[in-house]
Amino acid sequence: MTTTGTPPLPKAELHLHIEGTLEPETVFELARRHDVALPYASVEELRAAYDFTDLQSFLDVYYANMAVLRTRDDFAALASAYLRTCPEQGVRHVEMFFDPQAHTARGVAIGDVIGGLTDAIEHHADDVSAGLILCFLRDRSAAEAEETLRAAEPYLDRIVGVGLDSAEVGHPPSKFTSVFERARGLGLKPVAHAGEEGPAGYVTEALDELGVLRVDHGIRAIEDDALVARLVRDRTPLTVCPLSNVRLACVPGIGLHPLPEMLAAGLNVSVHSDDPAYFGGYADANYAAVREGLGFTDDQLRTLAANSITSSFLDDEAVQRLL
Ligand code: ADE
Ligand code: ZN
Repeated sequence: MTTTGTPPLPKAELHLHIEGTLEPETVFELARRHDVALPYASVEELRAAYDFTDLQSFLDVYYANMAVLRTRDDFAALASAYLRTCPEQGVRHVEMFFDPQAHTARGVAIGDVIGGLTDAIEHHADDVSAGLILCFLRDRSAAEAEETLRAAEPYLDRIVGVGLDSAEVGHPPSKFTSVFERARGLGLKPVAHAGEEGPAGYVTEALDELGVLRVDHGIRAIEDDALVARLVRDRTPLTVCPLSNVRLACVPGIGLHPLPEMLAAGLNVSVHSDDPAYFGGYADANYAAVREGLGFTDDQLRTLAANSITSSFLDDEAVQRLL
């Protein structure tokens, strides 16, 4: 129940990096277990480092913290801790991003990453449905993305889609045209981060070059009228993450977030939490931020929640069950 006593709106979480749910306490617990040295003396000191100025300043801490994730059980426990929070927030379905390259580069087997995440998804299946979206790191090479897709092929039955994340500016979607074409051929649904820090042109490229079915963030699309018209016409989903955009200084403050303008333009927007352990909260905190910081009405919040469900990769019958 929420503080007002009403149950939370049923919703889908479509923009959540599972590594972004790694809470500071867990970083310390796993560091102790695996004898990993941390450059912070305490949880408080680590939390104090979450004072980001842009996307890169966040990514530096985010990748460094991942060094504590070493075993299949670590990935299972990470995803389990997150999935356990879903029912109380009304989250009925999750399509979670994971970054295999950030782990295989440290010597962790991709099978342990996918196996652990899948263990957790199966364990919580009665309470919340969930799928995996394998993300390529756009600041690494296209050849490495190809290798990663090849390494994931034995596990394709556990993966619903491919995504593109990490440092955006200077790494346009067109760098990954070929690997996305191969992924689509394997039956994986394509999505990509675009127009978070990067220009509206990257959103256009993600549509034209990668064939994406959803755009992650996409807030800068609003700068291009022709692109907005195209996204509205095609009802392309944009998975917007308000608290993330504020904490990474993609917008100057919650009151200046373009979400109201995007909704008014007829864009198919929904609200998500990106990296909740780093940005001040999970789905409920993001809904509260748009209600309190942008004055969204109950009707508008219902629209956002319904959009999240209809924008998922669930089949029509499952969508109808959740609405
Ligand atoms: N990886 C995790 N969070 C991200 C974000 N907000 N943008 C790009 N890559 C990410
Ligand atoms: Zn993201």
